[in-house]
Amino acid sequence: MTDHELDIRYLAACAIAREAGDVARRFFETREAGTFQLKGHQDVLTEADGAIERLVTGRLAEAFPGDTCVGEEGGGRYSAATWVIDPIDGTANFARGVAHFCVSIAFVRDGRPVVGAIYAPMSGELFAARRGGGASVNGHPMRVSATTDIRQAMIEVGWSARRPMTDHLALLQRVTATGAGFRRGGSGALGLAYVAAGRSDGYCELHMQPWDVLAGLVMVEEAGGWALDFLADDGLKQGNRVLVCTPGLKDALAPATGLLPK
Ligand code: IPD
Ligand code: CA
Repeated sequence: MTDHELDIRYLAACAIAREAGDVARRFFETREAGTFQLKGHQDVLTEADGAIERLVTGRLAEAFPGDTCVGEEGGGRYSAATWVIDPIDGTANFARGVAHFCVSIAFVRDGRPVVGAIYAPMSGELFAARRGGGASVNGHPMRVSATTDIRQAMIEVGWSARRPMTDHLALLQRVTATGAGFRRGGSGALGLAYVAAGRSDGYCELHMQPWDVLAGLVMVEEAGGWALDFLADDGLKQGNRVLVCTPGLKDALAPATGLLPK
């Protein structure tokens, strides 16, 4: 794939994330907060998730008929050119009338994420990155924070019911024992974008799915951040643990989390 073909995909990811996010916003503004189904324990599904994923995969199939798609709701298959889509990340927020959610679109070339677009329609922020081309929010360059003192750091610690609560509590304990503060915003994709934007100093979670991670990962790396290898152990298909942070905190944070490979 040429640089030009990658540029076209970057622009398409940004445009489609915006279009899909605007649809998500209309759903959000008109639906009754608190009406949703569960597809698993604490795993929320709304009618908007399926509709938006179909919109995104439809647009991508029209524009790039040779590429494949993998979506949170519809599944799919990987190829040398794959789009990985989370139609609404932060679904539990969305379903309860909390405005912190986004559409996340990543493009994976030869097994490596190279483009990410994350659009948060309620704040109107488009986070975007292209491997080797930097990261931006609404066109302004993004840079991870300059924090070097872990006792001044804010780390987002994600949670899902895919891992036992005892393990989550142990991770939280280890992170806060460093002196860092923590939060959980409920959208892993935005959590990573916020690290890229310097709004959090790091993000960690015991297990995340590829559609929650890949777009934000490109952003964190392009914004100068450090990331644990998400692609190890078939992470692209099975998901994996996630740890990213500003480089000045890597030595204090990474070993303390217990997430580094043994
Ligand atoms: C979840 C959110 C959450 C993260 C979980 C994800 P969903 O995705 O990103 O913040 O901690 O790992 O599964 O259910 O909102 O699409
Ligand atoms: Ca998600």
